Amino acid sequence: MLEGVGRVGAPPGASDNGRHVGPEGLEAVGAVGREAMRHRTRAVHAGDDWSGAVYPLTDPISPSTVFAFRDPEIANLRRAMDPPEPNYSREGLPNVRALERAVAELERAGDACAVASGMAAISLTMLAHLDAGDRVIASADCYCDAQSLLTQELTRFGVGTDFVDTGDLDAVRRAVGTSTRLIYVDTISNPAMRLADLEPLATIAHDAGALLCVDNTFATPMLCRPLEYGADLVIHSATKFLGGHHDLTAGVVAGRQTVIDPIRRCGYLFGPTLGPWDAWLALRGIRTLAPRIAWISETAVRVASFLQAHPEVSSVRYPGLPDHPQAELARRLLPDGAGGMLAFDLEAGSDAADKVIRGLRLIPYAPSLGGPTTTVCYPPRDLTTDPCEEDGSYRCGTLRLSIGLEAPSDIIADLAMALDGLPAAVTAGGDEAVRPFA
Ligand SMILES: Cc1ncc(COP(=O)(O)O)c(C=O)c1O
Repeated sequence: MLEGVGRVGAPPGASDNGRHVGPEGLEAVGAVGREAMRHRTRAVHAGDDWSGAVYPLTDPISPSTVFAFRDPEIANLRRAMDPPEPNYSREGLPNVRALERAVAELERAGDACAVASGMAAISLTMLAHLDAGDRVIASADCYCDAQSLLTQELTRFGVGTDFVDTGDLDAVRRAVGTSTRLIYVDTISNPAMRLADLEPLATIAHDAGALLCVDNTFATPMLCRPLEYGADLVIHSATKFLGGHHDLTAGVVAGRQTVIDPIRRCGYLFGPTLGPWDAWLALRGIRTLAPRIAWISETAVRVASFLQAHPEVSSVRYPGLPDHPQAELARRLLPDGAGGMLAFDLEAGSDAADKVIRGLRLIPYAPSLGGPTTTVCYPPRDLTTDPCEEDGSYRCGTLRLSIGLEAPSDIIADLAMALDGLPAAVTAGGDEAVRPFA
């Protein structure tokens, strides 16, 4: 082999070919094997390669979109490797590969493909795995833009969708037909905050010769790893909790090698390439995912309990509440916490919701989620039932909170003030340290 074929442009200490590195490095130093690692340890080290004698603790950012060769034969040999070694940005960049290795390890997947947004990950997954004439069974409350993709774009390619209440497993079984190729759900739906019962859904999909694809953005791999329940594909908008700081846009899809390969090929041809800077930021975010999600989940329980007791609030949707309609499933699916997303309905409807948003001082209105800042927004519009305002905006009596890293008492005080000026100290409770999960 020509010298340097496998390692052009890789960060110092990176594995040959950018491939996933096994546990040898760790075992060689007599430490705990990678397989036995706790999830919080895995978040800190996922994708790391300990095999080099010297390696940077943080990957350098490698912005070159192309590698250069003195001998064109090297480029050809790299392209012919299994898997092919990238020579050009759309084929994969070192920082993107590092993010993919980390998410694959966190989700217990064979491989992952990182692209320019969560929607790019969803689109490529569907484009790679669906043909004209195929049908998708999608959860009736899956992410709104995934719904629009299915109803407004994939129909043009001859792909049909049956939207089903996937909480009703018999309804899912009834919807399955000979053309069903994909069942598509969110681990925690938005804004209903309902959970998908992944194990029976995987069985239904596989009995039909279909794949189960799960958007795990709200739960993150710290709280739920859908592949362990039999799902075939797991998707993240890394823009949200994985990145965790409202400063990048990225998406990742993970699964076994044979389901990721066609997605990677589609990514190469359709071209939503993730840049090295956003990939680097996403991986840096993942390093602190465990303590962030532990804090956020604990705070969310307190905020949800506060809202539930408030007279202006008619209902609260949070899977971490003991009286959530799927509390038993929540204990099975999310044993370490229910994450940071919750929605609540106001007795007085949309005018009151507007007033609450304007009355908040600490919590800004922001139509995204998953950062260090607690944010509020209207939930995504239900395209079938929710009317728009004349100016095209959307208002209703429901608000969605993305809980951040502030002290629970401050978040609750802000909500109390905006709801009716309740004395915060009475309702907020203490801010004692959060017990981190294993
Ligand atoms: C659950 C979920 N999935 C996917 C997406 C799409 O992600 P992105 O905005 O990174 O394309 C979002 C965005 O809000 C989301 O909330």
